Formats: sequence, C-alpha cells, structure tokens
Amino acid sequence: MSDNLARQFLLRDDVVFLNHGSFGACPRPVFEAYQGWQLELERQPVAFLGSKLLVERQKATRVDLAAELGTSADNVVGLTNATLGLNIVAQSLDLKEGDEILTTDHEYSALEKTWAYVARRTGAKIVVVKIPMPLLTEAQFTDTLIAAMTDRTRVLFLSHITSPSALVFPIERSVAEARRRGIWSVIDGAHAPGHIRLDLDKLGADFYSGNCHKWMMAPKGSAFLYVRPELQVLINPLVISHGWTADNKDPGVVGPFGNSPFVDSIEMQGTRDPSAWFAVSDALKFRNDNDWWNIADHCRQLAQDTAARLREMTGLAPLSAPEFCAPQMVAMPVPAIEDPLAIHDQLLADYGIEIPVFNWQAHSIVRLSVQGYNSKPQMDILLGALKTVLKL
Ligand SMILES: Cc1ncc(COP(=O)(O)O)c(C=O)c1O
Repeated sequence: MSDNLARQFLLRDDVVFLNHGSFGACPRPVFEAYQGWQLELERQPVAFLGSKLLVERQKATRVDLAAELGTSADNVVGLTNATLGLNIVAQSLDLKEGDEILTTDHEYSALEKTWAYVARRTGAKIVVVKIPMPLLTEAQFTDTLIAAMTDRTRVLFLSHITSPSALVFPIERSVAEARRRGIWSVIDGAHAPGHIRLDLDKLGADFYSGNCHKWMMAPKGSAFLYVRPELQVLINPLVISHGWTADNKDPGVVGPFGNSPFVDSIEMQGTRDPSAWFAVSDALKFRNDNDWWNIADHCRQLAQDTAARLREMTGLAPLSAPEFCAPQMVAMPVPAIEDPLAIHDQLLADYGIEIPVFNWQAHSIVRLSVQGYNSKPQMDILLGALKTVLKL
C-alpha cells in the first residue's frame, strides 16, 4: 500500500486501476521471470519443449502450488484458466436424463453456459437455488442448499468466491453433506487462490478449479484443476494427445510421462507455451518474499473502509455480513443505474478509474477490488467521482 509497491506493477499510472478481480495484475519481477521462460523457449525450443526437462519443470510448479493449496502435487494439474478446468469436469461426469445439477443464483455466466450445454447434451436438469440476501449467517446459505438436495441431485456446483456479488460462500458444510449423499461437489474457485487461504484436502471437495492469474498474481493463462485422488479416474481430457493412455482407468497405471494418467492426460496436450504455468512458482516466491498475506490484510481493511464510506453516501445496505464479503473485493450497491456501461465509461474517461459497474438481480453494483498497488488517495478519487457521476 505504498508508491513503492505500486512501482512493482506494470499498470499504467494514468489509470486508477480498481478491477484486479477480472484478470489480475502481474508484478514486475514475476512478469520478468515469465518473459525469461519465454525467451529460453524461443532460443532452444527443442531443449525446452521436447525433453524430460519440460515434464520435470511442470511437476516442480505442481509441487510448489500444491503446497500452497494444501494438497499433494499428484492431485493438481496446470491449465490455462478455471473455465477450462471446470469444463473438463462438467464434460467428464456421467450424467443422464433426470439427474439434477444443483447450483446458486450467484454463478459466473460462462459456467452457467457450461452447465446449460451439459444439461442439453445429457438431459440433466439444472436446479438454481436462490441464496437468501443479504447473506447474514452460514446456516442461511447451507440450509437453503441442503433443503434443495434430492435423490436425483448428482452435482453440487458452487463458486467459492462469487463474481457478481463478491461473496465468500461458506461452502464447507454443503460440500460435506454432498459427500455424505454421494453428490459430486464441483467448486469454482476462480477468485480464491491467493485471496483466501485454501486447504483443499481439508475442504474435501471432489473437484476444484482456481485461477493463479487473478489474486495469486501469476501471468495470465495460469490456473489449476484439483481432483480428489479417488475420482481422478472419472476425468476425461477435452483434448486427446500424447499424455493420454488407453489404460487410464486401470488402477495403478502410470501415464506416458510418469505421472498419474489424470495429470499426464491434461498436462501433455500438443504444443503450447508453459511459461505462465512455470511463473506460478515465481509468483508464489514474490508473495512470500513480500509477506503478501499481510499486504492483503491492509487491502481488506481499505476495501471495507471504502465500502463503509460509500454506504454513508448511499444509505444502501451491504449484500452480506462482513465475514462473507470477499477480503479484497466488495460489490458495493449504488442507487439504480439505467445504463451501467455508460457510467463505467464516464468514470474511465473523466477520472481515469477502471472499475466494473453493472446491474445484477435487483441491484446496481460498483465492484471494488483492492490490491497492494492501490492506495487511500485512490479510494478518495473513486468516492469523489461516484458522488458526482451518480449524483449522491
Ligand atoms: C466466479 C468466476 N468463475 C470463473 C471465472 C472464469 O475465469 P477464467 O476466465 O480465468 O476462466 C471468473 C472470471 O472472472 C469468475 O469470476
């Protein structure tokens, strides 16, 4: 939360960047490490991509990331984004007509489409539960979901941190109940890694996909898919390539590159640039060297203070109790806006502020993200701009 920290990022200094949530931002040392990997690839592609070194390096990142996520390296595999990870799961599960996919009304639109596609192909039905708002207690959330579980429920699909409402869903009890009933839990953790502390083995979800390019601050195109060991045999990659083996369902079989068939079949798919994935290790080192969880805590405070100041101006209630608000991202309700895109464009053109403004359910929302490069004076600029633009 200082100029010094802001200088570690490559963001334009004529933009007040308050939208870390959409695509993240990569610190300069991590970006340089990323470019270093790319340069090494370009200078000797065969040594980089065509040898055992690739397999070893991919594994090294899995080891580093798995330690951060509270699981083991064999349970995670690198891929380009959470959408891909969740598509692999959604399209692997054996669903049929009459099966139910239970989910909430806070999910990310791209994944709503994924499940709609799966439902259309399999005849399964999507059951959308309305989460009580404002979300004030864990029981409100969990009891609503459990009440909607039936004998036909095969999948429970939940965001860990939601996109439109920026809530941390308290998913633990629902995941445990799903397991007890033999329902597959599929968790969209796009916003979670580097934002909240994760312990995937303890959480016990069956499938979990998260992005490293958002809050972990790795380069764009770095993400992972976690699958509980017992269920890895269920996974079919979307692309069949060198890493696949026909015996992938047999117990004890090792993949063609020496990892589990699950890891090999997803990690080894044609020619691609693994630099963003390798740089996940560099991002973890950067975070560690800079005590980033501590910085994140200052960001949380600044985000909460800013939301409270805006509330004083609007008189509008928050979407949840503080414990369910994403630490570094707040969906701040504002008076009804007819054309949110026009407000977004005006904030950018007149004040240099990049921040998402949208209508969701009955709310008009300005979604504030606060990362280590942001500052209190930027929050003052935002509040001043909203006062004028929204006539508060
Ligand atoms: C909740 C949620 N899920 C999934 C995604 C998709 O992330 P990606 O585009 O990196 O796959 C996003 C992106 O913002 C998101 O907010």
